Amino acid sequence: MTDAATGQGAARPKGARLTGWFHRLMANPSFQSWASRFPLTRGIARREGAEMFDLVAGFVQSQVLMAVVELRLLHRLMEAPRTAAGLAREAGITTERMEILLQAAAALGLMRRRRDGRFTLRRKGAALLGVPGLEAMILHHRAFYRDMENPVALLRGEVDTELANFWPYVFGVRGEVDPAVTRIYSDLMADSQGLVAQDTLRMVDLSQVTCLLDVGGGSGAFALAVARAYPALDLMLFDLPDVVPAARTRFEAAGMGQRLAVHGGSFRSDSLPYGADAVSLIRVLYDHSDDTVRSLLSKIFDTLPAGGRLIVSEPMSGGAVPERAGDVYFAFYTMAMRTGKTRSAEEIGRLCADAGFSQIIARPARRPYVTSVLSCVKPG
Ligand SMILES: C[S@@+](CC[C@H](N)C(=O)[O-])C[C@H]1O[C@@H](n2cnc3c(N)ncnc32)[C@H](O)[C@@H]1O
Repeated sequence: MTDAATGQGAARPKGARLTGWFHRLMANPSFQSWASRFPLTRGIARREGAEMFDLVAGFVQSQVLMAVVELRLLHRLMEAPRTAAGLAREAGITTERMEILLQAAAALGLMRRRRDGRFTLRRKGAALLGVPGLEAMILHHRAFYRDMENPVALLRGEVDTELANFWPYVFGVRGEVDPAVTRIYSDLMADSQGLVAQDTLRMVDLSQVTCLLDVGGGSGAFALAVARAYPALDLMLFDLPDVVPAARTRFEAAGMGQRLAVHGGSFRSDSLPYGADAVSLIRVLYDHSDDTVRSLLSKIFDTLPAGGRLIVSEPMSGGAVPERAGDVYFAFYTMAMRTGKTRSAEEIGRLCADAGFSQIIARPARRPYVTSVLSCVKPG
């Protein structure tokens, strides 16, 4: 083989040779041992070692969290500090094993062991209870982790994933989805919508908008947040026929029934309603293939007047600067759904530009694990 083919030897540029030398040095156990003792490098070596161990142990940490949530330990500690023996009796496991679980949860910063031996909540544990939908999401991860059990098989497309069945609409199923399933995924989405709405509305100003159409608006949690933030704005919501009644109910319960018009249909086969001067797509595009996204964006372009705005809000890939939430968690979650994909702001912007939109602006995300936002305008 030639140098060029192997990528080794004199044909390699100086920068690449230097990088190769550096990587070999870092991978050398003797160098690692020296770096962990040398005063100028030992801090870095320890920190990187701990980060590497977290990466190795991440699944075990998540499963400890799963047990804590399933056994409702944080709720129990919210009431009062508790002993391992008392919690063990309620959970139906031995005191010895409950001690191990509590010790692990304490190590993860969720709780703390008091001097009297009882356990009490720490700020992180209490805060976890305050994030709407987070416990439900953690429990829902059972299905995701089963899909991830053999990641290489998943990457090869050899896994019949559970998440694909959990989100059946992405395959275009219509009228055949068990309403109980629709309710579970709508609830899961609505529970986590509070933070998404908060971040989205901080990044976009809708004060010039007269009527917003929320496409794939689910049970109306985002639309209701908009209605509350902008009392003069009218709202329309488009989602699958089985889903939209929940949005109507939500608005009526909030005493705002007259502010929302719901439209049941599929954006894969139906056209979108006219009348809005802005459209929002909140956590919709990442569920779908490029072909479905292209067709949806072009329908949105047709439905908007000149000067109308499109707002896309969803977790995104970091693109050239990979990002943990988008490029690890959401990228594999959408892969397990089997139709979706986590795109970068640049990729979404390109798809919007192909549909005819201009003035494409990606806003820097405050919390990329919650959402990122991109907006664009139909030229007029
Ligand atoms: C991930 S959920 C997001 C819901 C809501 N926007 C939110 O952020 O909470 C995706 C939504 O898109 C809707 N959806 C998926 N495929 C659709 C289709 N073909 N036509 C209309 N709505 C669809 C689903 O029913 C669901 O409510």
